[in-house]
Amino acid sequence: MIPLEEFWQIFRRRFGRQPEVVARAPGRVNLIGEHTDYNDGFVLPVAIDREIWVGVAGREDRLLNGFSLEHESFAQISLDSLSRGGKSSWIDYPAGVAHQLLSRSLPLPGTDLLIAGDVPVGAGLSSSAALLVASATAWKHLCKWNLSQREIIQICKQAENEYVGVACGIMDQYVSCAGRKGHALFIDCRDLASKAVPLPGALSILVCDTGVRRELATSEYNRRRAECEEGVRLLKKYLGDIRALRDITPDQLEKYRDRLPEVTARRCRHVVRENARVLEALDALAAGDSGKFGRLMNESHESLRRDYEVSCPELDAMVELAGKEPGVLGARMTGAGFGGCTVNVVESEFAERAARAIQSDYNRLFSRPAATYVCAASDGASILMTNVE
Ligand code: GLA
Repeated sequence: MIPLEEFWQIFRRRFGRQPEVVARAPGRVNLIGEHTDYNDGFVLPVAIDREIWVGVAGREDRLLNGFSLEHESFAQISLDSLSRGGKSSWIDYPAGVAHQLLSRSLPLPGTDLLIAGDVPVGAGLSSSAALLVASATAWKHLCKWNLSQREIIQICKQAENEYVGVACGIMDQYVSCAGRKGHALFIDCRDLASKAVPLPGALSILVCDTGVRRELATSEYNRRRAECEEGVRLLKKYLGDIRALRDITPDQLEKYRDRLPEVTARRCRHVVRENARVLEALDALAAGDSGKFGRLMNESHESLRRDYEVSCPELDAMVELAGKEPGVLGARMTGAGFGGCTVNVVESEFAERAARAIQSDYNRLFSRPAATYVCAASDGASILMTNVE
């Protein structure tokens, strides 16, 4: 990231005055628990040391005036013309937050916004959740609203669901708000309780980016959600009052599997077993059994590839290459899938070497170059600078 001082100067040059608040929010990588959040299930993400900054200053009028350093583009939108659904520009994320704030009758002023970040866009590291959370955090502070962390998380999720039009679950916004340095965050996506789980110092998190961007992701993501709902609807006949795949054990599913269409059964099997894997992974961490944690990550990838069908050849190759490296305990795709990144848990002394080897092996196989990052588990959103009393 650029130094804060430079960000501040750019704000001054762009808008002719100082920012009143600069907030930061991190991207995330999910260690295990993929495609479980919208099934009321369990997830174990980590906030990473790549983040989005949003600097804001209130205006007298009703305009959102945004400049994105990453996209080198300016955008303007009136608070009086915010409408729902089907968006894709970077300004739609702060605009979506504004839309939520206004719909809660919070008196949001027009605002100048400067946005900067080093979370790669579209790579499955939740740059969009980070932008939502940084915007909401900046406005909360600017306007001195007494919003709880839970409310900020819900505002950001609803902004993405309703304004941007992406039917995501709650994991990304949650961990971007509530992540903790040196910890992963176990989240129960039903009651939204969470627990910070310490990560062993001897392990590193290596993220490998395939360079593939997720064109298929939105339509296939929505289809997977529908398939899971269909599974619940059909299983209700046999299991009574279940609300989500969260309510089904792997044994129950095995028993009634052949009553479901084949594809639906595989989608359900992934989710039901993935939930069980998250709980096992927590136990493995608590017992200091990193080997087991890694094996559960490998199983998760296999299940996402075979049963949930959200992987792609580049992700599979990246996981396979990682498996050949000394010190790599587990590797899997992370995020929605169809491209983006893998996450690897590596013994720290081997991390840099594994990163170089995976990258160069991958570049020999594919025309798109890979990128690799050894990530530190970081704190959730915070204020970097403010002159609001
Ligand atoms: C995306 C969504 C999350 C979650 C993951 C898959 O990142 O934003 O809510 O569903 O995919 O685990």
